[in-house]
Amino acid sequence: MTDDRRRSLAWLDARVAAGESFQSVAEAAVSHLHASYPAYHWVGIYMLGGVGLRLLAWDGPAATAHVEIPLGAGVCGYAATTGEAVNVPDVRQDERYLQCFLGTRAELVVPIAVDGRVYGEVDIDSDQLSAFDAVDEAFLKLFCERLAALAEGQRLEHRTPAR
Ligand code: SME
Repeated sequence: MTDDRRRSLAWLDARVAAGESFQSVAEAAVSHLHASYPAYHWVGIYMLGGVGLRLLAWDGPAATAHVEIPLGAGVCGYAATTGEAVNVPDVRQDERYLQCFLGTRAELVVPIAVDGRVYGEVDIDSDQLSAFDAVDEAFLKLFCERLAALAEGQRLEHRTPAR
């Protein structure tokens, strides 16, 4: 783990410990990730609700039209349905991909989940091919574990993927 990523986890721990609402932490978290990591061009948090996933918070150069994503659609739907993180190095090669931005080349989606209960996910788009490596995945999994603990404490909607 790199120092900047360790600092981000400590930053999130402090926000969680402050007793804020999930919404408030989510808004701060997307802005923190977007501002701290140059390859993270667009960062969103989708949570379960409505038709499947609903966009709760985002930061980046432009709004997405995909404010609601059915569970059967996109890389986002796949990650929420399976509870697995999905690292797509080239979105043009992945038939699950649902396009949001013309410039996006790579996408990383990590479920916000604890003990098999999925509450939502962090979705990161990058304009760089193969933008995300194993360090990003490990970092975002730790980041999402903390968000999941907060979601669990606030009794947010969740689902349990079939195994
Ligand atoms: N690309 C995503 C849709 C969400 S946008 O990237 C913000 C997907 O394939 O599910």
